[in-house]
Parts: sequence; C-alpha cells; structure tokens
Amino acid sequence: MSEHIALVVNGERREADVEPRRLLVQFLREDLGLTGTHVGCDTSQCGACTVQVDGQAVKSCTMLAVQADGATITTIEGMANGDALHPLQTAFWEQHGLQCGFCTPGMIMAAADLLARDPDPTDDEIRHAIQGNICRCTGYQNIVAAIRAAGAAVQAGASITPGVAPAAATVAAGR
Ligand code: FES
Ligand code: FES
Repeated sequence: MSEHIALVVNGERREADVEPRRLLVQFLREDLGLTGTHVGCDTSQCGACTVQVDGQAVKSCTMLAVQADGATITTIEGMANGDALHPLQTAFWEQHGLQCGFCTPGMIMAAADLLARDPDPTDDEIRHAIQGNICRCTGYQNIVAAIRAAGAAVQAGASITPGVAPAAATVAAGR
C-alpha cells in the first residue's frame, strides 16, 4: 500500500505516492530523476547519498521517503543558481577537490551543513565534518582545501544558501 507524500525539493513542490519501504535516495534518484545524489554503499557508510533535509545534512539511504513528508530537501542539483555555481562548487573546481567525482555531491552537501554553522572551520573541524564521507580516490587534501576556500568565500560575503548566486565566491576562492 502506498502513502501520499508532499515535500519541497530544490525549491519545487513535489507530491507522490510511495511505498512505505522506499528509501529517500531511491525516491530522489529513481522517481524524481535527481541522479546527482549517488549510492555508494546503501549501508550508511560512504556519504555519497548525502542531501540536506530541512537544512541539515542527512544520508538519504538512511531515511525513508515517507519520513520526508513535509520536509524541504536540497540535493546537489539545487545548489547552483542557474549558471552561477554555489561557492562550494566553485571551490571544489578551483582547488581540484575531485578526481572521479563520485563522492563530490555528498562531500559538498556535508560541507554546506558545516559552513552554514561555521564559515571559518579549522582543518580538523572540516575533517571531522566529512568523516562520514568516503572518497575512494582518496583526494582528501584537496577536498579539505576546497571547503576551506569556500569558507573564505562565505566570510567575504558569498551566500551559502542553495540557489543564491555566489557573487563574491570567485574572488574570495583565490582568483
Ligand atoms: S549510499 Fe548512503 S551512505 Fe553510502
Ligand atoms: S573523487 Fe573519486 S571518490 Fe572522491
């Protein structure tokens, strides 16, 4: 038997009938076609499936879609504002914070949660914030550098809010 859910995903109201056992990550990827959220393990280990639920980073393989009823969800697809990248996306690009890119959406969503709480984290605090996110390419040094650069951009005035043009991000991220 299906349950009816209504939620906001990347600023858009979505309604659907879902089975109670359906995971949020399945709903996002398979029902809504938002495949930027990746599945690396399905067992809550890798963090590739991280999205924001009501502003907090959540591994979407650990949550049922029905539990997201009424929530506001942001996925990696909702971070940029048109062609204007989110400060974290700019920083990952400029600091070479990705190799194959598989872990990148989850890393960015976890980092966004951190920077929303503290735009000036230490490297240890950055590493702590992404400890639930595995990079199989082991590019951690540049990932940390990217998050640090994005934090600097936020302190210089860039908005960390998803979907808001990061006017100051490019300058503050090191160009
Ligand atoms: S797929 Fe969710 S933590 Fe790995
Ligand atoms: S960049 Fe390949 S898994 Fe992280």
